[in-house]
Amino acid sequence: MPDVFDVLSKDHTEVKRMLTELQTGPTKQTGADEDQLLLRKKMTEELIIEESRHEAVEEMYFWPAVREHVPDGDQLADEAIEQEQEGKEVLNSLDKLNASDLEFENLLGKFAEAAREHIAFEENMVWPGLRSALTAEAASEIGTKLSEAKKTAPTRPHPHTPPSPGALKTTGPAAAMADKARDAMTGRGGD
Ligand SMILES: [Fe+2]
Ligand SMILES: [Fe+2]
Repeated sequence: MPDVFDVLSKDHTEVKRMLTELQTGPTKQTGADEDQLLLRKKMTEELIIEESRHEAVEEMYFWPAVREHVPDGDQLADEAIEQEQEGKEVLNSLDKLNASDLEFENLLGKFAEAAREHIAFEENMVWPGLRSALTAEAASEIGTKLSEAKKTAPTRPHPHTPPSPGALKTTGPAAAMADKARDAMTGRGGD
């Protein structure tokens, strides 16, 4: 049974893989053609979908557990959620651009750097404390909640939804449904 750290670590690995792939791919500035730019936009959409789901479920189940079980949990959670909010603002702007837009690579580069720092913060500053505070049973219980919540999590960043577990649980499912309807209409995130 995957526990909270297995679930989050799998997401982090996937996000870092996507970032590396995007950062090695051809850009408008390095002479990418039309098809390559469309693919780049698609890969960025997939990154935004993955990242939106990941941060939404962390805010619903991971940070509350950190606040409850880790001695300086409130401070760590506040700092991390601030990083997540900044990330959402950047992704929200990036989501509106095409890969041929001038600002696209700027925002993508900015996000990539911040996302790597955010992941390192969580894994190095937060996980050890939570790992030692949770029983194996509690760790796998949170892991299950995260995996379940990911299935219905929003696929867009929603920087203006308050990042509180209560707000996300109330407005999250409706936002997620609206996101999915828009995704279906526009083909976003599809093959
Ligand atoms: Fe996070
Ligand atoms: Fe994370």
